[in-house]
Amino acid sequence: MAGGRILAIDDEQNIRRLIRDELGLEGFDVETASSGEEGLEKLSRQIFDVVLLDIKLPDLNGIEVLRRIGPKIPPPEVIMITGYGDIQTAVQSMKLGARDYITKPFKLSELLALIGQIMDENGKPAHLKSQRSDIHDEYDRGIVVFRSPKMQEIYGLVDKVASTDVTILIQGETGVGKDVLARRIYARSSRNDKPFVVVDCGLLSENLAESELYGHSKGAFSGAKQHKKGLVEEAEGGTIFFDEIGNIGLELQKKFLRFLETKKFRRLGETRERESDTRIILATNMNLTDAAQRGTLRKDLLYRMDVICLNIPPLRDHPEDVSHLADHFLSANVVGSGPMRLSREALDFLTAYPWPGNVRELRSVIVKAMIFAKSQLIRPDDLPSHVVGKKKCVQSDPKSLEDLEKDHIMSVLEETGGNQSKAAEILGINRKTLYKKIHKYHLLA
Ligand SMILES: Nc1ncnc2c1ncn2[C@@H]1O[C@H](COP(=O)(O)OP(=O)(O)OP(=O)(O)O)[C@@H](O)[C@H]1O
Ligand SMILES: [Mg+2]
Repeated sequence: MAGGRILAIDDEQNIRRLIRDELGLEGFDVETASSGEEGLEKLSRQIFDVVLLDIKLPDLNGIEVLRRIGPKIPPPEVIMITGYGDIQTAVQSMKLGARDYITKPFKLSELLALIGQIMDENGKPAHLKSQRSDIHDEYDRGIVVFRSPKMQEIYGLVDKVASTDVTILIQGETGVGKDVLARRIYARSSRNDKPFVVVDCGLLSENLAESELYGHSKGAFSGAKQHKKGLVEEAEGGTIFFDEIGNIGLELQKKFLRFLETKKFRRLGETRERESDTRIILATNMNLTDAAQRGTLRKDLLYRMDVICLNIPPLRDHPEDVSHLADHFLSANVVGSGPMRLSREALDFLTAYPWPGNVRELRSVIVKAMIFAKSQLIRPDDLPSHVVGKKKCVQSDPKSLEDLEKDHIMSVLEETGGNQSKAAEILGINRKTLYKKIHKYHLLA
């Protein structure tokens, strides 16, 4: 797994040094930065496969840095480094695209396992990867698990629509398996020997989007030295997957609608209209109706899209799949341990947890548990505290920030046996603030 490029952004010199020395010994090429701005500056000049990003930085916070890393091609995988008490921020960062998080103080073996997993899954470092993804590697070797009636219904539909050329819109929260589903549709279609091209609409740069999608002729703009095919032409004969369709800029939406409706497009700088022979799949984790109401999505794009919608429900709505998915991830044995299984109690916790990051989060929890389990049997002790802490209050609705704060404070208080000074220290707030919050939420009532 050697040979990847890693950027560690952390203000603690010890951590930077540890990462640089140890990962360097493992054969990685490591750069470091001590602030968010310095990190972003390095990212603007070089391509990295993995970014290790501290949530608490002196200038920008990690979330802000993560947002600004967003529009990079190819995107680096980001692992957040969090302190105790930052779990909610870590979950938020995963929604924003971070791959995973690791809690300080961490073991080097833990960090190496995470990075190894990313490198193995991606096959080769991102900076060597092209936009086109090869269906015969990564995802599709993996088995798709869908045992519950809800999921069987969706995957049943896939077989029906795969053979047609109809445009498909896949909707669902982050991590529910939209990519997996799109690739399945492609794999089952008669176009499966032709390209599968992924366009991450959130990453299309405002200025270059049109030429990236449709290509350009020589001299179409300064810098256009050659004729160039766009992604649509790269996908000719195959399938083009527009991911995060809700993030497409307003400017581009009109031209995009025309392409969706007619499959016709023009290279930038050309008058000739070209016709594309592709199957289109769209995906979004946003509610498009809301986006249209907010004005970030054109209404006609919403209503005139002639598509079949496949809605993948959040994992908490089909908890019966948790045990099958968990077994699947255990048997995939990504960490190279012997055969492992879950204790009954551990499975109960996993089934009761609301999984805001859905299947992706479940996978990450299982992989971590496999690394940390003290025996071949994974027990509740081996699971992260935020997963085992929530059993008593199964939530199906998204929780407000206040609820999250309240739950978190409560669990820390429980952990410290009600010792407020200790709890305040762990939470990183002063005692007075904690005292106020305890009263606000009636935690001692
Ligand atoms: N039904 C499934 N069976 C096995 N693995 C799954 C299944 N659904 C999702 N996964 C795994 O969960 C992870 C997330 O899936 P995927 O990338 O498809 O989610 P997504 O809905 O596209 O998320 P996002 O909105 O963040 O892009 C992947 O590692 C994927 O392999
Ligand atoms: Mg996706």
